[in-house]
Amino acid sequence: MRRLFLFALLGVSIVALLLSDIPFGLYLYQVERDRLITQLQRDAFILGGRAEDALEDSNTTGLDTTRDLAIAYRDEGGARVVIVNTAGTAVVTNDPTDSREGLNYGTRPEIAEALTGRVATGQRYSDTLQIELVYVAVPIYSGDSVVGAVRLTFNEQAIDDAVTRSLWGVYLVAFITLVFAIGLAFVISRVLSRNLVHLGDIATRLSHGDLSARADEPDGPKEVKELAQNVNQMATRLETLVQEQKSFAADASHQLRTPLTALQLRIERVREGLPDNPELGERFDEIDGELSRMRRLIEGLLALGRSSVEDVTRAPQDIGAIVRERVEHWRSLAEESDVSIQVASPESAIVWAVPTATEQIIDNYIDNALSVMPDGGELHIDVAVSDGETEVRVRDTGPGISAEDAERAFDRFWRGGATHEGTGLGLAVVKQLALSSGARVSLEPHPEGGTVARATFSRTA
Ligand SMILES: Nc1ncnc2c1ncn2[C@@H]1O[C@H](COP(=O)(O)OP(=O)(O)OP(=O)(O)O)[C@@H](O)[C@H]1O
Ligand SMILES: [Mg+2]
Repeated sequence: MRRLFLFALLGVSIVALLLSDIPFGLYLYQVERDRLITQLQRDAFILGGRAEDALEDSNTTGLDTTRDLAIAYRDEGGARVVIVNTAGTAVVTNDPTDSREGLNYGTRPEIAEALTGRVATGQRYSDTLQIELVYVAVPIYSGDSVVGAVRLTFNEQAIDDAVTRSLWGVYLVAFITLVFAIGLAFVISRVLSRNLVHLGDIATRLSHGDLSARADEPDGPKEVKELAQNVNQMATRLETLVQEQKSFAADASHQLRTPLTALQLRIERVREGLPDNPELGERFDEIDGELSRMRRLIEGLLALGRSSVEDVTRAPQDIGAIVRERVEHWRSLAEESDVSIQVASPESAIVWAVPTATEQIIDNYIDNALSVMPDGGELHIDVAVSDGETEVRVRDTGPGISAEDAERAFDRFWRGGATHEGTGLGLAVVKQLALSSGARVSLEPHPEGGTVARATFSRTA
């Protein structure tokens, strides 16, 4: 997440720099070229002015002076100079190695144009020098008449070099901007991702049933702050709704418990007052059975209402000792149906869970296993300790369960095709208790038949 922000911000910065620097570079090139051409024109007019008199009366001494000036000009980094007379013949050049004086330049378009009295500027490829040249050709006037022309040529590479030199400054600014952008992107992405990661943690806690989870309101951007506020509002609303629903179920169950006990007592009294009659006795047994079922239902609903994720504190408990104690409790009932119970557990295995949740979970698993197993079955209870967790496995030799039913078994009131007495609330309570204890619970078919019920507890707080 943080890397994504970082790359996005860097990408935007680089694109912004490219968008601003490329047109700026092109603009700089144009400005530099215009500046050079203006300078060449000015130099050409100055040299022309010097040559004017000498050209007018074909004064060779005057031309020599002009040549010396042109050579000095070239030595200082100036352009190549060619001065022609009205016939187009070169009378002054400033190339010491390749003097082209005497040659006719009259056919060169820029010279021809300058001899007609106009200024010619442009760019062309020099076959002789094999480079791109920028040129300026200006007429030399004496009074109103043209007495010759000056052409200055300059290596185009010189413009590129000048632009590159200026661009170094731009590159430096761009580099500093980029370094700042990286720093800024890093800081912003840290702040944003830290807030979002925190919100993600809160959402995960809420989805796992911890309705007391609330997000800290971040100092970051307004949108993230609003998101945190919305998450908190949603959590508060959810918590209130769940609480209301739970207390309604708990209240209703509680209210039902008293009249039910009274009803059972009254029926008992009526029964005692009646003469002994086997047929009536059977009816009363049936009524008693139904009332007991109702009582278990109400107890189950009360248990579900009571066990909530909030207001419970986890504490360390020795699950090895709890398993042994619960097995002793169930052993006599198991013996009635000839079921043997084998326990494999370390002496002591500490887990963190809500007190009493561990024994209720184990009781429910053993109760279910004994309810579904035929006489003479075997019950294996293992406690397995691994890195950060400890798992309790209750394996029976009953009819087993399909993977699909194993999921649904934890739903309230779901009993599948169960024939044993029950309400279908046992595993729903187990699930609720596991949630409060931060434990995982599941049922699954065992490959060799029967069912394995698992509860995995954390070994740390
Ligand atoms: N060990 C098991 N083997 C096969 N099926 C099982 C096992 N444990 C649970 N089940 C199935 O899951 C259903 C739900 O179990 P749960 O404990 O919630 O309710 P119950 O045992 O029917 O009633 P009670 O509320 O009295 O416990 C059972 O009715 C049964 O069909
Ligand atoms: Mg049960």
